[in-house]
Amino acid sequence: MSRSILVTGGAGFIGSHVVQALLERGDAVVALDSLNTYYDPPRKRANLAEVQSEASDASQLTFVEGDIRSRTTRSTPWCTWQPWPAFGLP
Ligand SMILES: NC(=O)c1ccc[n+]([C@@H]2O[C@H](COP(=O)([O-])OP(=O)(O)OC[C@H]3O[C@@H](n4cnc5c(N)ncnc54)[C@H](O)[C@@H]3O)[C@@H](O)[C@H]2O)c1
Repeated sequence: MSRSILVTGGAGFIGSHVVQALLERGDAVVALDSLNTYYDPPRKRANLAEVQSEASDASQLTFVEGDIRSRTTRSTPWCTWQPWPAFGLP
């Protein structure tokens, strides 16, 4: 895999399509999403399941549930991967 890319809001409408496109071109992706209740969280989990099924293997896509504004979230192990660049949605 060429690189690891962070997509915030990765379970959302646009974010999950960005994740899908990145997986299709062979990138490793960290999708971060708080799964907030602005609309149905199961819809967002379904988005994730759909894109996960298109990953070449389980390691190509990592999902992290958390709020990007939270220091706790940003100090979780995914941060040590230093994924870069990033797409912010939001
Ligand atoms: N969908 C459109 O047609 C459209 C058009 C123009 C602009 N936008 C903008 O693009 C962005 C994404 O749109 P969308 O339709 O994919 O929205 P969406 O609600 O489907 O996706 C946003 C995702 O971000 C997550 N999220 C929100 N705050 C978070 C936080 N602090 N930390 C981690 N995750 C967080 C939500 O849980 C959600 O899954 C929005 O800012 C929207 O205003 C969307």
